Amino acid sequence: MRFLRVCAVPVLLALIGFATSVIGSSGVIAASADKGKIAFVQHGCWQCHDFNGQGSIATSNGRVIARTALPPDAFKSFVRTTNGAMPPFRPPVLSDDELDDIYAYLQSLPEPKPVSDIPLLKASRSQ
Ligand code: HEC
Repeated sequence: MRFLRVCAVPVLLALIGFATSVIGSSGVIAASADKGKIAFVQHGCWQCHDFNGQGSIATSNGRVIARTALPPDAFKSFVRTTNGAMPPFRPPVLSDDELDDIYAYLQSLPEPKPVSDIPLLKASRSQ
């Protein structure tokens, strides 16, 4: 019995170690929309893209980044290397993990309502 207990502990620890390494390396489970929302605010993305990634003509050249159609790699590469109206955010300022989390946050934002469900827009479209 004692022998079993002595052996079971290292086997259990090895299994836990294996499980966490698999989960950690997948990248999908590691990214967190909740942490991404915090990073989005802390790094000032909201100043030009607003809190829900909707942006505006004046601040984001009309780009909507909520549920961005950019694949993760293109998204990261843009944020890291842009040299236009948006300043680049390099790793010393914004870590890879934070960028993954921001991507998860943007993908978690809800679809906008259709124009036909917004009375003011519906009225201006029909004029
Ligand atoms: C100073 C204003 C400003 C800030 C701060 C800013 N952006 Fe931008 N962003 C822009 C503008 C303007 C564009 C439109 C691209 C251009 O004109 O170069 C843009 C474009 C983008 C795009 C590309 C959208 C597309 O569909 O092409 C992504 C992705 C993006 N921003 C993410 C971010 C993230 C993430 C942050 C925070 C880490 C951030 N931005 C902070 C101004 C800003």
